[in-house]
Amino acid sequence: MTQKSAVKVPFLDLVSHHRPLLDELTAAFREAAEKAAFVGGPAVESFERAFATFCGTKHAIGVANGTDALRLAYLAAGIGPGDEVITAANTFIATVEAISQTGATPVLADIDPKTRLLDASAAEAAISPRTKALVPVHLYGQPAPMDTFRTLADKHGLVLIEDAAQAHGARWKGQRTGGLSDIAAFSFSPGKNLGSCGEGGAVTTDDDELARKVRMLRDHGQAKKYHHELEGYNARLHAIQARFLEIKLRHLDDWNATRRDRAARYSNALAGIEGVRLPFNHSDAESVWHLYVIETEGRDELGPFLGDRGVATGLHYPIPLHLQPPYARLGKEEGAFPHTERSARDLLSLPMFPELTDEQIDWVADGVKEWVDSRS
Ligand SMILES: Cc1ncc(COP(=O)(O)O)c(C=O)c1O
Repeated sequence: MTQKSAVKVPFLDLVSHHRPLLDELTAAFREAAEKAAFVGGPAVESFERAFATFCGTKHAIGVANGTDALRLAYLAAGIGPGDEVITAANTFIATVEAISQTGATPVLADIDPKTRLLDASAAEAAISPRTKALVPVHLYGQPAPMDTFRTLADKHGLVLIEDAAQAHGARWKGQRTGGLSDIAAFSFSPGKNLGSCGEGGAVTTDDDELARKVRMLRDHGQAKKYHHELEGYNARLHAIQARFLEIKLRHLDDWNATRRDRAARYSNALAGIEGVRLPFNHSDAESVWHLYVIETEGRDELGPFLGDRGVATGLHYPIPLHLQPPYARLGKEEGAFPHTERSARDLLSLPMFPELTDEQIDWVADGVKEWVDSRS
């Protein structure tokens, strides 16, 4: 082995992440097993209160995963057949799957090339008489400019929904995600900034009626056992996951602060490298750096080059949704969303997690520099 792979940098290190919490997590599991309390109940209610307080919202409703959180938020907001819902072409597929699953039609719009978030003017241009809702996505942990989207939604009478799956704790103009719209969806899949030890999600809102509907929808449409007001789903959060999440939530602000620090070290180390575009840091945004995504021509070579140095990288996401087979039916061909397409072609996610060491970040940054130098 050459000196080149002296430092190993995984993409994510959930083993180190959980190690300091293992006693608490194990005790939570033991307690749940001893009480045989596995789905819903006081553990879920306790986490819901804690997460609502964290987001600054009146309600948080635990659900089975982030995709269910989106679908139930959409359904509670009255989205269904005949409606159109606008979102970003560069999001994870779940944002869009959940739109289709309500019977509505997803309408994709291009991104702002600087922030890589849904572009407000592109979203406005996509509004039609059938548009029911706007869904900005806080991609990579970076909050979308929700005051701009609020104005747009109000102007056109639309529901405003956040996909906050990647942005627990991020702030736009000082206010946390989850409370920046009519209703918001979070994912707690294990690799998220707040991840369960399995699957989980939550819907947040200040609206009592929306909250009531989501609570029913997640539990077969019932508010009282076997009294079904609606046709719903089995989309409940497991009690054990709720306990794990409440334990981890206490550390989330610290983890997010560490991610910001790690991102700043990357940005300093990578500044000025020709041909490498770094993530944009908007002055009104406090990102929680779910991912640290650079863009460069030739990323298909940079990824393996870093791999040879022991650095794992990712692609979020390599094929925009309008070019994926299930959405060919939307009729948007290559060239429809040039900023999204260019970003998808050039993007590369570098390792990002709170436990990343200075040495690891410097090793990754040196690798990027070495690759750029090797090409000139
Ligand atoms: C932007 C975005 N939306 C929605 C989801 C769906 O969440 P889940 O995987 O918990 O269903 C994810 C996570 O994978 C995501 O990154």
